[in-house]
Amino acid sequence: MAIREVLKMGDPRLLAPARPVEEFDSPELTQLIVDMHDTMRALNGAGLAAPQIGVGLQVVIFEVAANPRYPDAENVPFTVLINPVLTALSDVMEEGWEGCLSVPGMRGLVPRHAALRYQGFDAAGKPIDRSVNGFHARVVQHEADHLRGILYPMRIRDLRYFGFTDTLFPGQTLLDD
Ligand code: NI
Repeated sequence: MAIREVLKMGDPRLLAPARPVEEFDSPELTQLIVDMHDTMRALNGAGLAAPQIGVGLQVVIFEVAANPRYPDAENVPFTVLINPVLTALSDVMEEGWEGCLSVPGMRGLVPRHAALRYQGFDAAGKPIDRSVNGFHARVVQHEADHLRGILYPMRIRDLRYFGFTDTLFPGQTLLDD
């Protein structure tokens, strides 16, 4: 188990497209996922993409546990998603606040597709195929963007809605992803 350093915005490795995973169920892939899980948990993240710890592979993880203090943040099961393909199920875009472990201490209002289908594989190479909406869809779009070198500030439409978390939401504890 290892908590890895999370790269911060400005590091060129966060802007590089990630390569597809070609070998599933390997010791290297298992170790990568353990490290990503430990790092996300240690930093109270909602999600993490492999490029954020300097590994240029198409691997993301995410999880949002139900929290009665934040009824708007729906429960998202812990998921390892490899080589994801996203298909928008609606042209409707929803604005929502996002944070990111690579952009610590900040939040921005980001438009995302309200509903989407995502396909990919788990760590053993078993196919995943889910249709989701709301916060679950948002988290997946955020993480998949990391695999294409896109950080959420690049998607903010109006930079007046980008700022420091403790100023925008004083007294709240919010997850980063
Ligand atoms: Ni992020």
